[in-house]
Amino acid sequence: METEIKEVAPSMIDYIHLHKTTGWNGKGLFTYNQLYTAICNSWYCISIYHESSLIGYGRIVSDGIYQTFICDVMVHPTYQRLGIGSQIIELLLKKCEAENIKWVQLFSAKGKQNFYKIHGFSERDSDAPGMSIFL
Ligand SMILES: CC(C)(COP(=O)(O)OP(=O)(O)OC[C@H]1O[C@@H](n2cnc3c(N)ncnc32)[C@H](O)[C@@H]1OP(=O)(O)O)[C@@H](O)C(=O)NCCC(=O)NCCS
Repeated sequence: METEIKEVAPSMIDYIHLHKTTGWNGKGLFTYNQLYTAICNSWYCISIYHESSLIGYGRIVSDGIYQTFICDVMVHPTYQRLGIGSQIIELLLKKCEAENIKWVQLFSAKGKQNFYKIHGFSERDSDAPGMSIFL
């Protein structure tokens, strides 16, 4: 399958269309404008297209030195299990390596840990657990 890879955020309409397939904003916590503003504020993005349709996306939020997070990795359901998600992770990590970033973190969605483990991620040590708060 021939795909086109862009290192920029997609259009808002394309992004929202893809984002809706994840169901992540089911509770309407964020407006579409907020979701799109968020990705435009990323440190780095990968957008993958097939026949001009956005089929995959992933981004990095980073200070460019030591705190770096991969977020919002998503592949359109029609195109899942074809290696697109892996390609996104590989390209995001390649960018980190090129920028000499040594440590990359992420939060895995439930049941998706295996996908990240394949790419070398491991769960945080229980002596240094990840923590978060909803405000
Ligand atoms: C998770 C996701 C990004 C994976 O993308 P993908 O393009 O389907 O992944 P790949 O084809 O590169 O998969 C590579 C391997 O990862 C593993 N994997 C992929 N999806 C998986 C899933 N849903 N559950 C468990 N393992 C998975 C498999 O071992 C797979 O290899 P296989 O297809 O030969 O068995 C995609 O399912 C998705 O967008 N899901 C909805 C959004 C989401 O949950 N994103 C993750 C946020 S943390």
